[in-house]
Amino acid sequence: MGLKGLLKHVPAYVLLQRIVGADRLRYRCIEEIQPGETVLDVGCGPAYYFPRLPSPLNYHGFDTDAPYIDWAKERFGGENASFHCGDFDEAAAKALPPIDVVLLLGLLHHLSDEQCTGLLDLAASVLSPGGRVITVDTCFEPTQGRISRWMSENDRGEYVREPAAFEKLALQSFGEVDGKVINDATHVPASYWMMRMTAPNRT
Ligand SMILES: C[S@@+](CC[C@H](N)C(=O)[O-])C[C@H]1O[C@@H](n2cnc3c(N)ncnc32)[C@H](O)[C@@H]1O
Repeated sequence: MGLKGLLKHVPAYVLLQRIVGADRLRYRCIEEIQPGETVLDVGCGPAYYFPRLPSPLNYHGFDTDAPYIDWAKERFGGENASFHCGDFDEAAAKALPPIDVVLLLGLLHHLSDEQCTGLLDLAASVLSPGGRVITVDTCFEPTQGRISRWMSENDRGEYVREPAAFEKLALQSFGEVDGKVINDATHVPASYWMMRMTAPNRT
């Protein structure tokens, strides 16, 4: 079984995230969430970081992978935490209450420019006033060393980009985009680009 096959096995995926320290990267992203907020997590995977989210919370998770969603639902599902298997599309967006924080953790680098634009427009459309979108993705950046670059080149995502390319996509849907490189979160050298998007460009 290759790494891709292994990562389909949910406990192996969760264990690997903890070994490489990818969980610590997620914890930095979820620091953006305040108790009482409504959160949409697209591409939530098994949402193993769920116990670190502030409480109380109203949480909606979406992923296209059934084993990930089943695993998350069994452990974390409840009155204020729903998990849905499938694409996050317009029908799903219309069924949601206004969202304070949209999480796209490790998702954009799996999507083409066109798919990113569609998803970011949809994320913009569900935000409450003052709402924000938080993303984090493997990236290519000039200060990264050889191991970090190798990690970026060998990521499962087919669309690992430079920060400017991620930012350009975000600015199509949002008026304000703050981004930073994170290269000290994981136990192995790796570079990530985190963005915080606000002020949706409503059309
Ligand atoms: C790298 S994983 C990240 C999972 C989780 N957010 C995390 O940080 O551990 C990316 C996830 O996005 C999901 N995914 C990919 N394309 C998707 C789409 N169009 N809609 C929803 N989920 C998608 C995959 O099934 C996978 O679980």
